[in-house]
Amino acid sequence: MMTIDIITVVPDLLEGPFSHSIMKRAQDKGLLTVRTHNLRKWAINKHAQVDDYPFGGGAGMVLMCEPLANAIEELQINTSYDAIIYMTPDGKTFDQPMANQLSMLQNLLIICGHYKGIDQRIRDQYITMEISIGDYVLSGGELAAAVVVDAIGRLIPGVLSDETSALTDSFQDNLLAPPVYTRPADFRGMKVPEILLQGDPKKVDNWRFEQSVERTKTRRPDLFKED
Ligand code: ADE
Repeated sequence: MMTIDIITVVPDLLEGPFSHSIMKRAQDKGLLTVRTHNLRKWAINKHAQVDDYPFGGGAGMVLMCEPLANAIEELQINTSYDAIIYMTPDGKTFDQPMANQLSMLQNLLIICGHYKGIDQRIRDQYITMEISIGDYVLSGGELAAAVVVDAIGRLIPGVLSDETSALTDSFQDNLLAPPVYTRPADFRGMKVPEILLQGDPKKVDNWRFEQSVERTKTRRPDLFKED
């Protein structure tokens, strides 16, 4: 069983992504628990303040130390986290190997930044891993956290109905996935490749591998150069 706690100032943003489809099934099966925590619960005053102006001036607000430190420490009373992750565009770029590694851990705490981010001292003191989902800036870490939790959650053993199906995803072997087809075999004159209809699993495997290599060569030649 994997537990993921998420600290956010916009918990509503995280309500949808985990309530449907595979993420819902993972939780219904008791394989995954996702809990969101509103940072305002640890606000410093009755105005529910959790952010303040940056020292030195400049645009935007910064999430303050005190609410974050208190939130993290309160959650740590009941859970020992294997990783405390901060979602940030200056983190390490998320990829399939990271998803694989994280899916083997038990308890994760994810902090979502907002506005201009969080006070650097929280990063220095508590954060063990910083993740970006790509070289673009979102208005907060919530959508990024949803992406990471989804990518991890589906890899937990037993979550996908056919356990091997994650192994045939794009990127699992540094290759893109091959094209797929379903019925009908002839759609408006566009035919499914003959080899898929013949029922020879060896030939199908070979064909799929060739297609994967071809696709990767044309679309993502960088994947070949990686190792
Ligand atoms: N927060 C804002 N932009 C982000 C990104 N690209 N990845 C992770 N967290 C973010």
